Amino acid sequence: KTIFVLNGPNLNALGKREPGIYGGKTLADIEADCIAAGLELGFTVDFRQTNHEGMLVDWLHEAGEKAVGVAINAGAYTHTSIALHDAIRAIGVPVVEVHISNVHAREEFRHTSMIAPAAKGVICGFGPHSYILALHALKNITQ
Ligand code: DQA
Repeated sequence: KTIFVLNGPNLNALGKREPGIYGGKTLADIEADCIAAGLELGFTVDFRQTNHEGMLVDWLHEAGEKAVGVAINAGAYTHTSIALHDAIRAIGVPVVEVHISNVHAREEFRHTSMIAPAAKGVICGFGPHSYILALHALKNITQ
């Protein structure tokens, strides 16, 4: 059973990007943690990052064919992308929206998610552990 963990723009800069908000872990650290947690939960984790909106659309479609679920941190596209909303609706597998920071405790423009209404649920504010919580949620809803 494969879970896609998809990451959007600027998440490749984790570790050096606003560490006061996002912490000191790099995306490679988070990938290793997700792969390890996936193993315990019985999932193969396919972990990816792109700065391009259309690539996330393509990967969501691919997940619809190959994965049992998706955890997605769409970064700033969360707040703008109708295309991601539509892609999530277009696929038959559950999608969990993930954020490292508590977007509701930040700027007003981060309080709206275009993808949350299409997602199964949303996890935010627990630092990199948000990803692990998303994997547990996917375990719970896919078994
Ligand atoms: C983020 C929150 C978004 O508002 C922001 O644009 C990001 C990261 C998070 O994980 O906290 O790039 O998705």
